[in-house]
Amino acid sequence: MATMIVPNSIAFQLSANSLFFLLLIIFCSSCKTTFAFQGTKSKSFHHILHLNSLLQSAACNSSTQGLHHQKSSLQVVHKHGPCSPLHLDRAKTPPTHAETFFQDEGRVRYIQSRLANKSGSKADVKVTDVANLPAKDGRVVGSGNYIVTVGVGTPKKQLSLIFDTGSDITWTQCEPCLGYCYHQRDAKFDPSVSSTYSNVSCNSVQCSSLVSATGHLPLCSLSTCVYRIQYGDSSFSTGFFAKERLTLTPFDVFDNFLFGCGQNNQGLFGGAAGLLGLGRDQLSLPSQTARKYNKIFSYCLPSSSSSIGFLTLGKCRRYGSKSVKFTPLSTSIQDSSFYGLDITGISVGGKRLSISASVFTTAGAIIDSGTVITRLPPDAYAALRSEFRQRMRRYRMGRELSILDTCYDFSKYKSVNIPKISFFFRGGVKLTIPLVGTLYVANVSQVCLAFAANSDASDIAIFGNTQQKTLQVIYDGAGGRVGFGTKGCY
Ligand SMILES: *[C@@H]1O[C@H](CO)[C@@H](O)[C@H](O)[C@H]1NC(C)=O
Ligand SMILES: *[C@@H]1O[C@H](CO)[C@@H](O)[C@H](O)[C@H]1NC(C)=O
Ligand SMILES: *[C@@H]1O[C@H](CO)[C@@H](O)[C@H](O)[C@H]1NC(C)=O
Ligand SMILES: *[C@@H]1O[C@H](CO)[C@@H](O)[C@H](O)[C@H]1NC(C)=O
Repeated sequence: MATMIVPNSIAFQLSANSLFFLLLIIFCSSCKTTFAFQGTKSKSFHHILHLNSLLQSAACNSSTQGLHHQKSSLQVVHKHGPCSPLHLDRAKTPPTHAETFFQDEGRVRYIQSRLANKSGSKADVKVTDVANLPAKDGRVVGSGNYIVTVGVGTPKKQLSLIFDTGSDITWTQCEPCLGYCYHQRDAKFDPSVSSTYSNVSCNSVQCSSLVSATGHLPLCSLSTCVYRIQYGDSSFSTGFFAKERLTLTPFDVFDNFLFGCGQNNQGLFGGAAGLLGLGRDQLSLPSQTARKYNKIFSYCLPSSSSSIGFLTLGKCRRYGSKSVKFTPLSTSIQDSSFYGLDITGISVGGKRLSISASVFTTAGAIIDSGTVITRLPPDAYAALRSEFRQRMRRYRMGRELSILDTCYDFSKYKSVNIPKISFFFRGGVKLTIPLVGTLYVANVSQVCLAFAANSDASDIAIFGNTQQKTLQVIYDGAGGRVGFGTKGCY
């Protein structure tokens, strides 16, 4: 059933007449070719999706961890699934697809409202008094869905934190939870039994640095600095700003790491103990450990919730390898937290889409570990969808799935051909999205193109975590660039 698009006659001509083939290549090297030589190169323009591979394993495959796992690496797992330490928590059921996308919309709106203000100020997020926000209904949160486990305090306590390239301050729920602590799987951190914990005082420079990291002025309680951070509409954390020993791996132990000891925390953090901030501000983990790692880290998000990825601090083995392609951080993003990218084009099945350059420059773009589905400017998404549908026209379409409007019913097939989608970034970087990042699979009768449109042409584009799966994404804060390598993990 998996047939090739190009008629056999062309394939025959190409192999039978190599001179003609050569002439075609020469001709087309100057014409931004829309010819696709699938006769000889079909594999490079399509993924072949085997439908029996879509059955998700119910057990964690721990042997999948890290093709490029190394010394200063932490395991990265999906929050909901057999590899997650939160998995055994009966109090939590994984969100439905609709809930996942609803939360994703919340995160996107939050990011877009923060970045809508090109002045770079985060202060437009309105939290006048976090401690008095009403107990919420668990609506929007958007704090990503991959977690790592780190050690905090002495003796160290293992805490599972959501990792987030879109925020800076690291925090965990702390006893005695003076305001409110949501249910978490790990025991809550208790600073009173740690010998390395200390409060940060109100008049310190560290306390003042909270303004840019959180977008809120710190408060002061009995001379202890109090941080406040809000994510989206209804999740937040506030508490004492403190220093503590952070143990990432046995080789990576940091004393006096600045973090939030959360006394009032609410949101859909899914049973995680808090959040690990990997943004660009001075309070983020990469910034606080810059002396050792030079603000360099990389991660690989696993292809499914039953496999394991990694977060590596410092230069990974592939850092200087030709298999990693770097694009400079975009200068159009003024916000101090986000990693901006300049998208320059998109191709589908080897064909570069005709999208005016201004479509991408008007919107700008960031890469985010917490947004699930990549959001594109409306014109860019329309072009992508149209070409994808055209190339998929032999397959029966299925029902839409929330924000995903291009879905297929593959229940009658054993394998199907999926056109490859590539993104182009400034610096001549071409990134071909792996198959697992091209489609969002609800089940075999609802397999959807995993991209969505922004509602407004001026909204920022977001390169989301579905599209990053199995890639090794290298953040080089010192070098001002982001790199992509394929086959980072399973
Ligand atoms: C675990 O994953 C590896 C890599 O994808 C695969 O080769 C192996 O068969 C898997 N094992 C199980 C039990 O699924
Ligand atoms: C930008 O931020 C300033 C100060 O926070 C605010 O007054 C202004 O309304 C914001 N502009 C937009 C377009 O959001
Ligand atoms: C930190 O400050 C809070 C509030 O002032 C106080 O209750 C707590 O005992 C302090 N902890 C330490 C270890 O000083
Ligand atoms: C596939 O998933 C959709 C959405 O979750 C659901 O409505 C539908 O019944 C499912 N179909 C099958 C065959 O499981």
